[in-house]
Amino acid sequence: MIDCQNILDNTYQKVLKMEHVGDVASYIPELSTVNPDQFGVCLITKNGEQFTCGDATVKFSIQSIAKVLSLSLVLSKIGDKLWERMDFEPSGTAFNSLVQLESENGIPRNPLINAGAIVMCDIICDLFDDPKTALLDYVREVSGIKDLQYATDIAASEQATGYRNYALANFIKSFENIHNTCNQVTDLYFHLCSIEMTCEQLAYTFGFLANQGKQIKTDMKVVKPAQAKRINAIMQTCGFYDEAGEFAFRVGLPGKSGVGGGMVAILPNAFSIAVWSPKLNKHGNSYRGMKFLEYFTDETQDTVF
Ligand code: DON
Repeated sequence: MIDCQNILDNTYQKVLKMEHVGDVASYIPELSTVNPDQFGVCLITKNGEQFTCGDATVKFSIQSIAKVLSLSLVLSKIGDKLWERMDFEPSGTAFNSLVQLESENGIPRNPLINAGAIVMCDIICDLFDDPKTALLDYVREVSGIKDLQYATDIAASEQATGYRNYALANFIKSFENIHNTCNQVTDLYFHLCSIEMTCEQLAYTFGFLANQGKQIKTDMKVVKPAQAKRINAIMQTCGFYDEAGEFAFRVGLPGKSGVGGGMVAILPNAFSIAVWSPKLNKHGNSYRGMKFLEYFTDETQDTVF
């Protein structure tokens, strides 16, 4: 990409100079200890060229961004049978909302809200004898981070305070859309969300979505091309919960956020970009992350629209 580093640097400086509002997530106590001023960016093209700015090599909690990896694992194992257990429609509600489940009989709107990710964790518990190890091995393989571990302090912190997720699991189980015990399922879910990566690692990990389902550099097949298309579609419509419309409007790329302040966006057949800044807006998405991606795609016109 012509001048990519230059445009990234200019966009980074522009966002740095702006007012820095928002709050670091504190409902998971361990997340509130992070330095809120860290700000990193990494873009990787499908040809393996990499561009970075700021704190691109600092590890952070990827939280809900990891739901995309549980989705790619489940889709690669059971394909369209997944849609017997959940839908693929945007929810328009907060990531941890319970409201739609009551009228929709325990069928989550999509795999990227907490309800959907909890059902995917139930499916992973059905698929593997040791689901936590299997999930970690899978993320190690896709990311190429051979020594990746769960951040057990973050998992334990959420385990101690994750009341809404316990409520979601129990509520969904009352509709028989959870087969394992709620404790098994929430334990896997909290560990999934605890995974840490740097912007460099995250941009690389999500490269397969910019490369028709094959990991960039290694050519490892993560999902089929049609499944990569569908994951991108779900990220576009559901990746930012009740801010998905705004993210499409401002950024115009499939993306996924996490309450650790990370954000990934994909331009299919071109690049994967990760941005991290811990202060969140009122929808739980990184304040600077949104601004950065909006200004970047306005400047480059690298958007799906
Ligand atoms: O379940 C939770 O509340 C967190 N482990 C993940 C939420 C999250 O990252 C929402 N994303 N913006």
